[in-house]
Amino acid sequence: MAITITMGIQKGGCGKSTTTGILAHLLSEDFKVLAIDMDSQGNLSELLTQQPSNEFVGKSILEAMQQDEVKKYIYNVSNNLDILPANNFLATFARWIYTGKTYEGEYRPYKGNTSAILDNLLDKVRDEYDFILIDTAPSLSEQTTNALCASEYVVVMYECSNWCYSAIPNFMDSVVAANEVGKRNTEVIGILRTMNDVRRSDAKAFNELIEEDYPNEVFRTIITRKAPTGRLSLYGFEENKELEQALSQYKEFYKELIERVDNRQY
Ligand SMILES: Nc1ncnc2c1ncn2[C@@H]1O[C@H](COP(=O)(O)OP(=O)(O)OP(=O)(O)O)[C@@H](O)[C@H]1O
Ligand SMILES: [Mg+2]
Repeated sequence: MAITITMGIQKGGCGKSTTTGILAHLLSEDFKVLAIDMDSQGNLSELLTQQPSNEFVGKSILEAMQQDEVKKYIYNVSNNLDILPANNFLATFARWIYTGKTYEGEYRPYKGNTSAILDNLLDKVRDEYDFILIDTAPSLSEQTTNALCASEYVVVMYECSNWCYSAIPNFMDSVVAANEVGKRNTEVIGILRTMNDVRRSDAKAFNELIEEDYPNEVFRTIITRKAPTGRLSLYGFEENKELEQALSQYKEFYKELIERVDNRQY
């Protein structure tokens, strides 16, 4: 049965999509992985498939949820890695939930718990994967709520800045709310410090601050700003000459995460 992990924070540009993509890639070396793009920007879809997200219009996670049918929307990326992709139309998700109207003008009301649409959908494929990883949008929207309610674990992305620091408490509250509303005992598995600019003294201060506030949650690994990691969005994971440099700093985080998951599972 798959273990489902969401990467989230409502602050934009904190490394959620990059981290989800890298983690999906690393996990797929040993496990069967399904990645899910719950952000209408479609960045994870583009990162993993190296195709424009418009390629997935009509073939995305949105239609999978609206039709309550998952298998035909799964796109195979590589041997052990699949994705349920997204595109801009995912921005109509909330309108569909509240009016029943799809972006194509059909009336297809959802009759269950609207925070558990994704969770219920994933129940159809959970036994086919070891890990399901969900990338979320930079907002505490219905997409994020659905991702949290579909997950056992949440990695909170913390880009060491003031506005990200101020986003953390509300995000932590949302995880608690998902735990209460959903059926997966959703909990934070850790806070990952990302995109750290080692030259900036304020970044160092925000690094330390989060460690004081959440000593048990922060991962020891700190992800720094590194050009090859940023350029993954350009070159992807296949035929990327700097792949090793792009991924190297994530390997320690990967180990820490697996260790924490193992400790909680048994
Ligand atoms: N460690 C890193 N070093 C350098 N650049 C990075 C790093 N991590 C991410 N980036 C780049 O920073 C930008 C933001 O990263 P990313 O898109 O992963 O963040 P996000 O949290 O998913 O953003 P959004 O909130 O818009 O979904 C991207 O251009 C990405 O390529
Ligand atoms: Mg993103």
